[in-house]
Amino acid sequence: MLQVNNINVFYGKIHALKDVSLNVNQGEIVALIGANGAGKSTTLKTISGMLRSRTGDITFMDESISHIDPYKLISRGLAHVPEGRRVFLQMTVQENLEMGAYTCKDHTKEGLEDVYNRFPRLLHRKNQIAGTLSGGEQQMLAMGRALMGQPKLLMLDEPSMGLAPILVQFIFDMILELKSAGATILLVEQNAEMALKIADRAYVMESGRIVLSGTGEELANSDAIKKAYLGG
Ligand SMILES: Nc1ncnc2c1ncn2[C@@H]1O[C@H](COP(=O)(O)OP(=O)(O)OP(=O)(O)O)[C@@H](O)[C@H]1O
Ligand SMILES: [Mg+2]
Repeated sequence: MLQVNNINVFYGKIHALKDVSLNVNQGEIVALIGANGAGKSTTLKTISGMLRSRTGDITFMDESISHIDPYKLISRGLAHVPEGRRVFLQMTVQENLEMGAYTCKDHTKEGLEDVYNRFPRLLHRKNQIAGTLSGGEQQMLAMGRALMGQPKLLMLDEPSMGLAPILVQFIFDMILELKSAGATILLVEQNAEMALKIADRAYVMESGRIVLSGTGEELANSDAIKKAYLGG
């Protein structure tokens, strides 16, 4: 479904991504793990067109998307929930969700029903201003808003960041549920242990490069990964 071939991305003189290649097949959960500053968010931003690669190519659903504007990718079915949630703080929960359906307005009613079913907390707060939601609720809203666009591929950047353990579990359960419902997910996570548990496959990044890849299980059992990311 998604193929990233040899991309190199720079911030001025900083070479942030070095020959990064990865792929995501339909129906998979693929995790991208690695330390702070490894280049995980940069990879997602490049896939969603917010940053441009100097080399290589990115294809989504068999079409090159390397030169497509980010807003057009949403209507093609690629959704990106960025780090730090980024909901519209001054709008209500429901207004935020409605914004998520701007590429498929006819779907708004069913979309809202679906999102409120998955996240009952959002239903109870539908008229609340998003800026007054807790961190976990804002994460649910950011995911819900992405789902409103009926994405084929959902890219999540650290959905568990800063959440209490019970909410972390809820978010991971939700990701598994989305997979069962047919979604394809590219998941960036600091929480390597949980990410590898739910991932079909995973890639490990270090200093802008992919240094390891394998099934979630293989990586969870790899000594190098245990040492670096799983506390021994
Ligand atoms: N706008 C920017 N300008 C300059 N350098 C940047 C910019 N954004 C990121 N970088 C650098 O690029 C590298 C990769 O950053 P990136 O945000 O992709 O890391 P990450 O793996 O997502 O880290 P984290 O786990 O902390 O979110 C880092 O060294 C970072 O300092
Ligand atoms: Mg990041």
